[in-house]
Amino acid sequence: MRTETPVVIRLDDYTPSTYSIETVSLDIKLHPTETLITSTITLRKREGTGTETAALVLDGDDLDFVSADLDGAALADDAYTVSRDQFVLLAPPEGLFTLTLTTKVDPTANTRLMGLYRSSGTYCTQCEAEGFRRITYFLDRPDVLAVYTTRLEANKAEAPILLGNGNLQDSGTIEGTDRHFTVWHDPHPKPSYLFALVGGDLASIHDSFTTSSGKPVELGIYVEHGKEHLCAYAMDALKRSMKWDEDAFGLEYDLDVFNIVAVSDFNMGAMENKGLNIFNDKYVLANPETATDQDYANIEAVIAHEYFHNWTGNRITCRDWFQLCLKEGLTVFRDQEFSSDMRSRAVKRISDVRLLKSHQFPEDGGPLAHPVRPESYTEINNFYTATVYEKGSELCRMLKTILGDDGFRAGMDLYFDRHDGDATTIESFLACFAEATGQDLDQFKLWYSQAGTPELIVSTDWDFSSGLFGITIEQSCPPTPGQPVKQPLHIPVRLGLLNEHGADMPISALIHEGGDHLQGDVLHMRQGRHRVVFGPMETPPVLSLLRGFSAPVNLTLQTDNDSRLHLMASDSDGFNRWQAAQDLATRHLIDGARGTLSVDPRFLSALLSIIRDDSLEPAFRAQVLTLPSEADIAREIGKDVDPDAIHTARKALKVKAAETLGPDLPSLYRALEGSGAYSPDAAEAGRRSLRNAVLDLMLASGSDEAYALAHSQYETANNMTDRFAALSTLVMAGAETADAVLDDFHERYQHHALVIDKWLSVQAMAPQSDTLGKVIDLTRHSSFSMSNPNRVRSLIGAFATGNPTQFHRADGAGYAFVADHVITLDDSNPQVASRLLTSFRSWRAMTEDRQHHAREALQRILDKDSLSKDVRDIAERSLA
Ligand code: TRP
Ligand code: ZN
Repeated sequence: MRTETPVVIRLDDYTPSTYSIETVSLDIKLHPTETLITSTITLRKREGTGTETAALVLDGDDLDFVSADLDGAALADDAYTVSRDQFVLLAPPEGLFTLTLTTKVDPTANTRLMGLYRSSGTYCTQCEAEGFRRITYFLDRPDVLAVYTTRLEANKAEAPILLGNGNLQDSGTIEGTDRHFTVWHDPHPKPSYLFALVGGDLASIHDSFTTSSGKPVELGIYVEHGKEHLCAYAMDALKRSMKWDEDAFGLEYDLDVFNIVAVSDFNMGAMENKGLNIFNDKYVLANPETATDQDYANIEAVIAHEYFHNWTGNRITCRDWFQLCLKEGLTVFRDQEFSSDMRSRAVKRISDVRLLKSHQFPEDGGPLAHPVRPESYTEINNFYTATVYEKGSELCRMLKTILGDDGFRAGMDLYFDRHDGDATTIESFLACFAEATGQDLDQFKLWYSQAGTPELIVSTDWDFSSGLFGITIEQSCPPTPGQPVKQPLHIPVRLGLLNEHGADMPISALIHEGGDHLQGDVLHMRQGRHRVVFGPMETPPVLSLLRGFSAPVNLTLQTDNDSRLHLMASDSDGFNRWQAAQDLATRHLIDGARGTLSVDPRFLSALLSIIRDDSLEPAFRAQVLTLPSEADIAREIGKDVDPDAIHTARKALKVKAAETLGPDLPSLYRALEGSGAYSPDAAEAGRRSLRNAVLDLMLASGSDEAYALAHSQYETANNMTDRFAALSTLVMAGAETADAVLDDFHERYQHHALVIDKWLSVQAMAPQSDTLGKVIDLTRHSSFSMSNPNRVRSLIGAFATGNPTQFHRADGAGYAFVADHVITLDDSNPQVASRLLTSFRSWRAMTEDRQHHAREALQRILDKDSLSKDVRDIAERSLA
């Protein structure tokens, strides 16, 4: 078997399409194994592409060609060439012409879940990034925008529901047959990646929304029968998203209908197809018995994210896939802002930064590092990354910090005004902000092209006699693949100075030197080194730096535990208060991993005062109480990482904390008991998260009472959050009863696939040495399936990314297991296989014996015959 030779696509090689497509008329006859697609497209040669005849080359991917007509007449055999991957019209006519192409596809055999496929019998599509070419031959690139009309036809009993993009234009039955049809028209020109259809026997819930200008919109959520009672929260989140986009950005919805369909086989989270979003059902379905608070928060965020794409992505789309962050980074920023407004801003910021540091920082610091706007790719599916999404969002947030709220909004307004209907670029996006505010963003633009996490090294000095306090900051950025040398970036550093009582001192009144780089409380770093001096003052202040995590950088601040404790106790910036606690814990844990854990008792009493402080939100207190993860500590250590030593140290610190705080924990736990019915709102979820963090800490003491409490919480919980937290804490602690509780859990929820995912994950993440054997057994369990991406991620993905000690087993068995499954999965679903393989991205940071096993596993993957370009690309870059 041969492997495709990878073609490198480069940003610099971009050229506009020679032909444009004006209208697309699709006639799709759905059939389980032989779906016929007739696509009638009107094309013309674009202006400025010369006068000579140029062949029209249409993309295809694994298509069965049936027929081709040009302007209504069958094409002569010598007028075109066709293969499964391409259709070429050798000499297109001048002016407007119409091409009608018929193809045949087998949706049931489509295991890649790209193009047209079936999920539990329902026909659905996924076209981003290059799935439309698996349905029909087309100019499948985001800068070809056309108006689509879609006629769908299917067996009435098999697919009573037939949905398409845009507004419903017609529907009816086909006389004398068991078939029926619908016709959908989408008036907004769109790229092919936003095309979608759904056909199936689905239940639905309906609601409506009236836009600020008074236009009514019909809202529908479609799910498998028997699941319609699980859609209420998603519908509520959708309406709140629609309202928020009007309030925050003045953006209204633009069609008569907005439909969401939930399917159980889906490669990613969800997809923003125009007027017809298709979702992984885990981001739609929820009720208190089966969904945790985290599930509810995720549903709210993903519903908002896809809805917000209607403007940032659909109305304004990307010129080419290198501009992916134009829609994804910006839309993540918008959904994060939405969730901050719906919930607690400080807590949301803490969890977003946790995610950024645990996913994006390792990517940026390893062999898969790439700029937010990559400059080349061989497989675009491999660039839907934490860097494009999460770091991309941070760049938008920095823009807002640099330009201020009003400047940012003015730039966004100009962007929507000027580029509505365009397929555009990062350059055009930034130009709107520069023009709207008069600011120079040339240096800021480097953030889009320079990979790697910048590092800030900060030292402070205090001169007793003059009363002057100096801050010296140096920036640098480590080399990344293809980028050995880095330039200084424009980094906005928000800061504060605390006096000895913990109060903020007036920064502007204290500037002594270097103040030209300060704007309010933001220091604008533009050079390699900056120095600011404040004073005079009586006593040295405590510096609170990078408030709100104002830039995605690694900060090394020369400081001491006294200062950290001061910030932890009183910083007015909630994020930095949390960060100070994390820093203190991290220092303990790094020492612990090196074999000398000695706990500063002041740290534990500071923790206690925070968790007891009722003036603070419970969700915030829970974040402070949650120690840095083993992965966080590994990242801080950076090289020669021994996950077992880290695990031992973290456990030891927890035991110590449980001992010291022990007497207070039971009363805290009781005080946090809820009253009344479950509600997923932020306040209640926060209370539960603190109570469950307390329970987890109590278990670290190993006392019988703590175990009994966890069991009773498991038994009596009236919601999944509390039940699963109890289960999880017992499994993670290696309780003797864990297996029995796991059996009970499976028994209760075996018919709820999304709950079974939790059951798989918690077993995959257990740190005990017999976990790998259990995970291997679970791959043969009837509740597991290699063809469902959610199951694969819950078991194998959770093991590879959520179980540092067992994935990185010193004997290499963890790596070998994951590699085996990447190899198997590559034959059926390369996109999910290559995503799974990215779990190897930090292999070079491990101890040498582990590195040896990881290299072997990666090489074994590369040696496989007929490897997909998705997996080949990740394996090659990982080894480079
Ligand atoms: N654009 C989608 C989002 O909102 C994600 C996406 C990209 C996707 N490619 C996909 C979803 C493939 C499913 C399958 O982020
Ligand atoms: Zn998106």
